[in-house]
Parts: sequence; structure tokens; C-alpha cells
Amino acid sequence: MAENIHPIHDRIVQRSEREASNGHRAGVIWLTGLSGSGKSTIAAAVERELFEAGHFVVLLDGDNVRTGLCGDLGFSIEDRQENIRRIAETAKLFAAAGAQVLCSFVSPTRAIRAMARDIISQEDFLEVFVNTPLAVCEARDVKGLYAKARAGEIKNFTGIDSPYEAPENPFLDLKTENQTVEASAAEVVQAIRQKLSL
Ligand SMILES: Nc1ncnc2c1ncn2[C@@H]1O[C@H](COP(=O)(O)OP(=O)(O)OP(=O)(O)O)[C@@H](O)[C@H]1O
Ligand SMILES: [Mg+2]
Repeated sequence: MAENIHPIHDRIVQRSEREASNGHRAGVIWLTGLSGSGKSTIAAAVERELFEAGHFVVLLDGDNVRTGLCGDLGFSIEDRQENIRRIAETAKLFAAAGAQVLCSFVSPTRAIRAMARDIISQEDFLEVFVNTPLAVCEARDVKGLYAKARAGEIKNFTGIDSPYEAPENPFLDLKTENQTVEASAAEVVQAIRQKLSL
């Protein structure tokens, strides 16, 4: 039998080889913040800039996750946790494949972000706090959700009747209030370039 067993483990492409080929290190950039704080807007701008610079970059956001991978999940506490668990596992696979993964989800509690960090690994988890005051998010009210939450039409809305726990020691604390989208994105890009250079 032994002669018919052909181990392939010595031929498996290592992450370090992928990183050398890509010209940058892999990692997960986890954007957390209130609804309307700017996570998706900033993540998309960062993705665009890194992509055009030749990086292997992937964006996980509500739009491409809630419809497929997590399409069976709702918004109960258990489902929100399962949502983040699957996202973190997916981000981990992409990072192992050499990608710089941008994840933009409210992820309101320290516990839920700790779960994501534990899945992804401390080393690969770069937490970006999109630090926009509630009043500013509410004034933006991009999706009209704050008005609905104030009117009692949506329950357990983060920042209104459900808490948001700010990160204690984020990789990056991004204050968007008096900043253009371009300036916020540039801050993130610079931090990624610095942290994830080869
Ligand atoms: N410096 C800034 N950075 C990011 N967004 C900004 C900034 N200044 C103004 N904005 C505006 O704030 C809004 C942020 O909306 P966005 O959908 O990105 O928020 P979000 O955090 O992804 O919310 P949600 O959790 O509901 O998905 C956009 O309309 C954007 O143009
Ligand atoms: Mg968003």
C-alpha cells in the first residue's frame, strides 16, 4: 500500500508564498461602528484604491453576505452571532489565501468582535473603529432607519434602544465627523500599507 500513498503536503501552497507573490501580507480589516457611521462607504473606497494598486483585496459587507452565505439568518441575538461567526470564518479562509479582507459590519458588542478575533486570530484581526457620533449618523440617516427606530417601527436598533460598545483598543480610531470620505479612506489605506507590508 505504502508505495501507492503519495503525500501532497509538501506541495501545498503556503500562505507565505502567496504573500510573496502578491507583494503584500494578508489580514482582516474589521470595520465596526454605528449604522451610517461610514463603514461600507469607506470599505468600498479602500477596496478600490488597494485593488488599483494591485492588491488582492476582498470586501465582505451586508450586501454580499446577507443574501447568500447568511441568507437564512434573521436579526435575533443568536442569528446575529451566527452571522458574524460565518463572516469571520469566511474572512479567515480568504486571509489564508493571501487576501486583504475588508469586513464592514456594525458588530456592536465587544463579545461579538472578540468571537470574530478569536476565529480569525489576534494577529490577523485589525479592528477599525469608524468613530462617528450617534447624532451625526442620525442626521445622515442614509437608510431612513433611525427615523423608523425613533418612531418605534424598528426594535433593538443599535444606538437607539440597543447598545453599541466602542472598541477599547482599536488598530485604528477613525473620526469621520469632520472628514471627507476620501480622507477617511486614505487613513485606512495608509495604515494597511504600513501594517501589512512584506
Ligand atoms: N468621512 C466619511 N466617511 C464615510 N462616510 C461619510 C463620511 N462623511 C460623510 N459620509 C457619508 O456617511 C454615509 C455613511 O453610510 P454607510 O452606508 O457607509 O454607513 P454604514 O456604516 O455602512 O451603515 P450600515 O451599518 O447601516 O451599513 C454615506 O452617505 C457617506 O457618504
Ligand atoms: Mg454598511
